[in-house]
Amino acid sequence: MRGLKDKIVVITGAAGGIGKASALRFAEEGANIVVADFADGAATVKEVEAMGRKAIYVQTDVTSIDSAKAMAAKAIEVFGQIDVLINNAGITKDAMMKKMAKEAWDAVISVNLTGVFNCTSAVLPYMLEKQSGVVLTTSSIVGLFGNIGQTNYAASKWGVIGMTKSWAKEMAKNGLRFNCVAPGFIGTDMVRKIPAEVLQEKIIVKIPAGRLGEPEEIAAAFAFLASDDAKFINGTVLSVDGACTI
Ligand code: CAA
Ligand code: NAI
Repeated sequence: MRGLKDKIVVITGAAGGIGKASALRFAEEGANIVVADFADGAATVKEVEAMGRKAIYVQTDVTSIDSAKAMAAKAIEVFGQIDVLINNAGITKDAMMKKMAKEAWDAVISVNLTGVFNCTSAVLPYMLEKQSGVVLTTSSIVGLFGNIGQTNYAASKWGVIGMTKSWAKEMAKNGLRFNCVAPGFIGTDMVRKIPAEVLQEKIIVKIPAGRLGEPEEIAAAFAFLASDDAKFINGTVLSVDGACTI
């Protein structure tokens, strides 16, 4: 991928799942990584370092603007710049609408929607100063099409698309790019929480590819969108879902 060598890439939720796979993919492309997660990111840092690249773990709660700003400041202190932000931290609290508690709504909106606002706000001053930067956000096919039991999650994942498009319109002229990836069902802890019979009988049967996606297949989309190969792609949503939405 062109233009990723020596770039500083901040990835939220990079302690595991898609975020960790993305950290390793960007390291493979020659980038250095800031692992920003609530959970311990030491294992990701170790694997990136074993690939000969630099990485730091900054414990971050994306729901807190102060935590997000402290994370960005630490990244600048250590690396001097932030070239790419990947808003990847996310949670589910699934329930049918008739049973969904207000707490489940608030929790998902705070991480998946407000968290994206917080982290983007935190890195923007540095990107605007340099007049360059890329912000990528993990939406979902659930944001585009809705899903049974996911009122809160669908709202958050649709919301980040609106934010991304607004930012592209506002800041393309400043040399910044904003895009979303909308993964289908990917084999991580998030999907492993789905009741087994629902996963098998209602979800996997509807995926024409006949399988869950791999975290590395989402990481590849992020690497492309962050690279110079995508330098005229701004404000879009790239679905990576094994054809399950057509
Ligand atoms: N797709 C299709 N049908 C579904 C479904 C789904 N995702 N989720 C539930 N159903 C069906 C069930 O099979 C069941 O059907 P029957 O009445 O015919 O048996 C019916 O809806 C009610 O389901 P439950 O009996 O399980 O009802 P519940 O109230 O006990 O639980 C639930 C509801 C919490 C939504 C639970 O069914 C569940 O966890 N479903 C999975 C929801 C889901 O798909 N989450 C995706 C998580 S991964 C993710 O979010 C990543 C991403 O971006 C794609
Ligand atoms: P995961 O559960 O494996 O990883 C999520 C990471 O986010 C964890 O490391 C967790 O500690 C971190 N996190 C949670 N709350 C946080 C907070 N407040 N502050 C900082 N970090 C926090 O999940 P997965 O599957 O890797 O998901 C990554 C992203 O991809 C999420 O935004 C998710 O919604 C999205 N996604 C996942 C799909 C899937 O099928 N797995 C499909 C579509 C989108």
